[in-house]
Amino acid sequence: MGAVVKDKLWEIIGQSDRSPICAFDHDFRLIGFNQAHSDEFFRIYGYRVELGDVFPDLFLPEQAPIIRGFMARALGGEVFSVVEEFGDPSFDRPYWEIWYAPLRDEAGDIIGAFHHAQDISARLRLQVDLSAAQDALRQAQKMEAVGQLTGGIAHDFNNLLMAIVGNLQLLAKRIPEDHPGRRFVDSAASAADKGSKLTSQLLAFSRTQKLSIRSVRLDTVLDKARELVRTALPPAIAMDFVLGGQDACVLTDPDQLELAILNLALNARDAMPGGGELRVESRADGPDHLLVRVSDTGTGMTAEVARQAIEPFFTTKERGKGTGLGLAQVYGFVTQCGGALRIDSAPGAGSTIAMRLKRAEAAQTPVVEAVDCSTEPVDGEGRVVLVIDDDSSVRAVLAETLKAAGYSVVEAADGPEGLAKLDSVKPDVAVVDFLMPGMNGDEVGRRLQHALPQLPILFVSGYYDTLALDGISGAAVLRKPFDDRTLLSAVASAL
Ligand SMILES: Nc1ncnc2c1ncn2[C@@H]1O[C@H](COP(=O)(O)OP(=O)(O)OP(=O)(O)O)[C@@H](O)[C@H]1O
Ligand SMILES: [Mg+2]
Repeated sequence: MGAVVKDKLWEIIGQSDRSPICAFDHDFRLIGFNQAHSDEFFRIYGYRVELGDVFPDLFLPEQAPIIRGFMARALGGEVFSVVEEFGDPSFDRPYWEIWYAPLRDEAGDIIGAFHHAQDISARLRLQVDLSAAQDALRQAQKMEAVGQLTGGIAHDFNNLLMAIVGNLQLLAKRIPEDHPGRRFVDSAASAADKGSKLTSQLLAFSRTQKLSIRSVRLDTVLDKARELVRTALPPAIAMDFVLGGQDACVLTDPDQLELAILNLALNARDAMPGGGELRVESRADGPDHLLVRVSDTGTGMTAEVARQAIEPFFTTKERGKGTGLGLAQVYGFVTQCGGALRIDSAPGAGSTIAMRLKRAEAAQTPVVEAVDCSTEPVDGEGRVVLVIDDDSSVRAVLAETLKAAGYSVVEAADGPEGLAKLDSVKPDVAVVDFLMPGMNGDEVGRRLQHALPQLPILFVSGYYDTLALDGISGAAVLRKPFDDRTLLSAVASAL
């Protein structure tokens, strides 16, 4: 290294540094700066600094005292760093991290100070984006966990209800209408019915509910929902349906869609106690989707409430008024249809809930055959039904109901046992629980069909993946809990 370079080393370092550096004296006048300082100051203020400038005077009036304060601290001997926004907004106003330190002579006396700055705007933006992404991820994980938990509980609960409803129906058959005990049976049955509605909403949220997803004309479903919504609204709320879906079809379960609209309308009603307007709109959303928007002119939601609104059991309503399952149903149902849900709301500005659904070809075949309940139940005439269910109380109810209708019933507690029965009996129809430990319902179904290709199979479940049934032809699905008539007409139609 040449002697000349060595003498000027610090100057060369200072000038080469990409961060702005400047030194100033006790009068706040610039006594030195590097090229980066000159360039960056020009970038944020449109002015080229000169030696001797009183530095704070170059700042906007509201920023001048701030920079002056920092400089004064450094001149007082303090070594520190700050983060502050500096710049003329009409040029640029980044966030700066600035380090300050005093300058001392050989005797140790402060002769001035200097700062070294860095534009950290990009880093801050990244941090904000990152923490938003982390929040979203945490929320998604939470929803997933809550979904699994709810699905599991709802599934077990559903089996209990199935046994309760079934036994009550069997009991009701043995107690005459005019018997004083009959009304207890009836009110127990109606409570069990309410329980079923709750579990079905829970299953919808956990995305484990059997949906009968098919191609339906969107506006036809909305038109049908209109009547339902009207009866739910008080006169002070005006209702407007703007159906712009034309003839487009979506992939959905029409009953669940209607329920979703009703849930949204009820929320809108509750948000407008003094009246207002409810609007339901449909329209195309790009080439592949349709949008259904339900908006109200009600209280709106804070960001905090909007963020939690779809969680099951989240409610801001007083005890007994809300269960917090409305939006959970809407969310679960829309997601299960392959769509998306969006909530736009602010306090005092009303709310808009948008459901984005997949467009479908007009005449699509249903993914899963829905059970035809229009068939009249018939006398079993001793025809053989193979009932495979791991839950003994559910199995007993199924068997009792079928026997009472004249069928001959063969019971099995699991798939292997059911398949073994084929050696001695030849069933006319099989009723198979879909979710069983060990050999799953769909495998049992496949093996049964392999052994007896003509055997109609009726799956019983409230909990399964719709797509798992694709490979089995002629399979119909009964959603738990169901009543005896539904079971008998499903068996009759399967036969
Ligand atoms: N349209 C809306 N306007 C204002 N707040 C709403 C709206 N929709 C939902 N919310 C808020 O989200 C919460 C959750 O709604 P959700 O429908 O899931 O449950 P709920 O209405 O409280 O009870 P449930 O629907 O089970 O009877 C509500 O308690 C309410 O605070
Ligand atoms: Mg609700």
